[in-house]
Amino acid sequence: MATDVTSLTDDQGKLDLELIEIQLLTEGIYRHYGFDFRDYSLPSMRRRIWKRIYSEGLTTVSGLIERVLHDSSAMEKLLLDLSINTTAMFRDPTFYKAFRAKVVPMLRTYPFVRIWHAGCSTGEEVYSMAILLQEEGLYDKCRIYATDINENVLQKARSGIFPLNTMQENTSNYITGGGTGTFSDYYTARYDYSLFRPSLRENVVFAQHNLVTDASFNHFNVILCRNVLIYFNNVLQDRVQNLFRDSMEMFGILGLGKKETIRYTNVAENYEEIDVEERIYRRIR
Ligand SMILES: C[S@@+](CC[C@H](N)C(=O)[O-])C[C@H]1O[C@@H](n2cnc3c(N)ncnc32)[C@H](O)[C@@H]1O
Repeated sequence: MATDVTSLTDDQGKLDLELIEIQLLTEGIYRHYGFDFRDYSLPSMRRRIWKRIYSEGLTTVSGLIERVLHDSSAMEKLLLDLSINTTAMFRDPTFYKAFRAKVVPMLRTYPFVRIWHAGCSTGEEVYSMAILLQEEGLYDKCRIYATDINENVLQKARSGIFPLNTMQENTSNYITGGGTGTFSDYYTARYDYSLFRPSLRENVVFAQHNLVTDASFNHFNVILCRNVLIYFNNVLQDRVQNLFRDSMEMFGILGLGKKETIRYTNVAENYEEIDVEERIYRRIR
């Protein structure tokens, strides 16, 4: 049904129009560049799109459509804005404590362990897991696949170099997360950065993978995808959870972020809860 054009001047009319523009933007990006943001959750997309609109000196979403479709460097900047890369070592330390107590004993019984960190950002989560596994004497039999949509963050992850000014928070997380050694033994401080031990990434493969458009690439005993699904709408969360279920060995472990759950997804019945608070689940069917 056609809209009365006079109604487009009110606030609701403007919001409706903006929604159409955002849909056109994400559809255009998908068809031109292949990045699929069509099912990302609207409130956070909106915030990030407006950040880029202001940075480009524009005033409308339509202006941004024109800019990114004709200028791939503007698209790259938007891509960086759309992927929130906030992370920290031993982030949500109680997760790591629970992982040590409840998952490590299971992993001890396996001859070989394949772990997938999906949406690993700059790699802090991966180095944290490597430290934990080394301390538990499991690292040598583990192979870690760490993926992200964003190649820039993966390059940082591969370097093993992290800002020195984050080490205070990382050390405190490490201790709360049940670390059994001395955190500073894992890195060498140089000027304003810290270089982590190369042995921590010996069994790690960093690779670009898009959870929205790419298929499964292996079967895993552990899949960690923390603080990524919050940016997806329900349809996309279901799709990605299906990808994880299909990539998961029977009795494999799924770890999500504090604000994420499988409870309302269509794979809920495939898992049992290992630790409800810490969002740790085990595939049972
Ligand atoms: C907030 S960070 C979370 C990092 C880490 N997992 C943690 O919990 O600290 C979210 C990451 O998800 C990645 N991401 C967003 N959409 C993605 C997609 N479709 N496929 C793979 N990674 C994606 C972003 O690039 C970003 O690095």
